[in-house]
Amino acid sequence: MQNETITQAVSERYAKAVTTGEEMCCPTGYDHEELGKFIPEAVLKVSYGCGTPVGLTTVKPGETVLDIGSGGGIDCFDASRRVGSDGQVIGIDMTDEMLTLARSQAPIVASNLGYPSSNVDFRKGFADAMPVEDQCIDLIVSNCVINLAPDKLKVFREMHRVLKPGGRFTISDIVADQPIPNYMIHDKEKWGDCLSGALTLSDYWCGLRQAGFGGIHQVGFIPWRVIDGIHFLSLTLTGYKLPHASAKPSAQYATFTGPFSQVTDEHGHTFTRGIPQIIDATTEQLLMCGPYQDYFILSDNPITLTREDARWSSVLPEDTACVWEGHFALLTGPFVEASDDDDHLFSCGHAVEICSKTRKVLQSDAYHQYFAIINRAGETVTPQTSTSCSQTDGCC
Ligand SMILES: C[S@@+](CC[C@H](N)C(=O)[O-])C[C@H]1O[C@@H](n2cnc3c(N)ncnc32)[C@H](O)[C@@H]1O
Repeated sequence: MQNETITQAVSERYAKAVTTGEEMCCPTGYDHEELGKFIPEAVLKVSYGCGTPVGLTTVKPGETVLDIGSGGGIDCFDASRRVGSDGQVIGIDMTDEMLTLARSQAPIVASNLGYPSSNVDFRKGFADAMPVEDQCIDLIVSNCVINLAPDKLKVFREMHRVLKPGGRFTISDIVADQPIPNYMIHDKEKWGDCLSGALTLSDYWCGLRQAGFGGIHQVGFIPWRVIDGIHFLSLTLTGYKLPHASAKPSAQYATFTGPFSQVTDEHGHTFTRGIPQIIDATTEQLLMCGPYQDYFILSDNPITLTREDARWSSVLPEDTACVWEGHFALLTGPFVEASDDDDHLFSCGHAVEICSKTRKVLQSDAYHQYFAIINRAGETVTPQTSTSCSQTDGCC
């Protein structure tokens, strides 16, 4: 199907939805009571997102925030409150009917917030060719939109272009646990339903990496729908446009503290828990950003950790029998690859079948932020008896 055909079908779908006030799309998790204090009902009722990229308190006062596919404006208005009257918000959407509604509500929201005038600018445009200058945005948010764009890699490149060095994104979007088959891709209706255009988690993550982002990691996950055996997930990801690293690192060594036994970062460096490794300036910069910083000790002298060290982190499976219940774990970053203490090797975005014991480990406080866990078992699967957990018995 031609890109123009997809874009037209999606735009018509959302024009119709906003005109009729139809309920659409996915789980979000907004605090409607809180938002209702300053955002009119006309906006809240056409909220078509799949997460809360702004409500995650990532937005700071005075920042310039861009919302890609702003729709009726719910996230722009939430961002407007969080950046304060000195901050700025830009919303981009391709659908006139959405823009008309959002623009009409902007003065009402500004007045509810006590601002002299609205700090939200709604612009008509496409996600893959945004009417925004280079390097002027602190934070990009987007809520259930990029799956609707035919050329996602172009969107990711545009995101990188408009962000300031050191800027970041937080986007909620629908991804799938496996490639979408052609019969769905060529179904025009299902594009508007946020199904046909969903990338696999692995392709989504690699696309963001290719565009130049680093420190890409999960900040939210909601299982959504299963259609024809394909699991559609709502995932909220954050990542960074890292500035150029200085010539020399300020620390010489990095020691990984766990909970994984070994990890490979986004630059391809492998770290074994507790073993210091020499790093260069680019690696130092990566390890100092969001998702890495709490799990690496950066130092001038090599620091080796043993199990007894309070900084060493690990979660071992219980010593009980395990049951195969149909669960699969998908690593969601920031590591490209990671191994746990039971020799499972996880690759970002790829589903690995796990038993009941491993599921418990991965849902522990130390691990849960790294994984999306789904269950692929159908209702026809007979409940199993437990098996002993040894490699020779075919356990995980
Ligand atoms: C599922 S709705 C989400 C709207 C809003 N983010 C929210 O949370 O309510 C998708 C919105 O993205 C817009 N959109 C879809 N594809 C787009 C594209 N390629 N460029 C710009 N806007 C797009 C649609 O017009 C629609 O308003």
